[in-house]
Amino acid sequence: EKGGWSSFMAKEISEEPEAVANTILGRVVDGQVVLPELEGLDEMLAGIDRVIVIACGTASYSGLVGKYAIEKWARVPVEVELSHEFRYREPVLNERTLVVSISQSGETMDTLMAVKYAIANGARTLSICNTQGATIARESDAVVYTHAGPEVAVASTKAFVAQITALYLFGLHLSRVRGTLDPEVAAHQLAELQSIPAKIEQVLGNGAEITQLAKWMSDSRAVLFLGRHVGYPIALEGALKLKELAYIHAEGFAAGELKHGPIALIEPGQPVFVIVPSPRDPNSLHAKVVSNIQEIRARGARILAIAEEGDVAVLPFADEVIRIPLAAPLFEPLLTVIPLQLFAMELATAKGLDVDQPRNLAKSVTVE
Ligand code: M6R
Repeated sequence: EKGGWSSFMAKEISEEPEAVANTILGRVVDGQVVLPELEGLDEMLAGIDRVIVIACGTASYSGLVGKYAIEKWARVPVEVELSHEFRYREPVLNERTLVVSISQSGETMDTLMAVKYAIANGARTLSICNTQGATIARESDAVVYTHAGPEVAVASTKAFVAQITALYLFGLHLSRVRGTLDPEVAAHQLAELQSIPAKIEQVLGNGAEITQLAKWMSDSRAVLFLGRHVGYPIALEGALKLKELAYIHAEGFAAGELKHGPIALIEPGQPVFVIVPSPRDPNSLHAKVVSNIQEIRARGARILAIAEEGDVAVLPFADEVIRIPLAAPLFEPLLTVIPLQLFAMELATAKGLDVDQPRNLAKSVTVE
């Protein structure tokens, strides 16, 4: 079943271009998102005043990426909360709250209980799910399926990129219903999204470089990940992957937070992955992150930069630069996460660990 791959995880990473492409497939007509599964819900979607995304683990990080896109396009406040926290704190909900649950398996008990809580307390519910007919999907008012295909490895990879893709599609749909985005801009964003699968293919082509990097880092005791804007959830995801697969202490931070504490962790030789925003980013976050790199480099950090092709500003300060093709800034997570997934897998392999079935973990967590 692994089709010649060394692990399900390796196979599933190789399937990421299709996971994104198949999630878009059939959902774009004349430059517009068409989600028949949301038919009849326009009035409800136009009337909501808040979106709360609930999920666990990797799925919650896809929600964080989605927040940046949905708020920007649909101008509705989006919160992202872990299902198990949401459920036990008496959140304020009403019929104008849309609770979006994200789950690959659709069976995660924490998320299921949170969805039931949302329904019982009068919220509207939408599920983003990868498994046809799963419990969470059946409980929700509506479901937008991701089409990543079955994911077997415990570590989520292709489901993650498919979840982010579904959130972009939902965000564009919501912005149309709410009239918040110029249709031309929306069509342009969609075209950018459609160009992503071929770019993921390009990133996968640099896999050998990452295998080498993982080999020389297999003795690392702790690895830090820094990102900003949509790169921030990717830093969190890179750290989670490394914890669960290679059993290495790893933390992800928002780069702007460095001075507020984490910079104290930097000592000579400390490896730090930095997800560098595009120099074309309109918010000029690129310069801010490059200056963060300089600050930690001056304290001896070993910098592994994930940066756009042609970004020369990082060269003087980075020990390694992993290149990603140019993409619209909001869609970069679909590219920057790939080297981090590969890195965690290769480092676990270099340590002789089982990448498909890490210790103490189950593919779907069906107990609270
Ligand atoms: O099936 P779900 O998407 O609801 O699972 C949520 C998390 O348990 C899952 O993403 C977990 O964090 C993965 N092992 C991460 O690789």
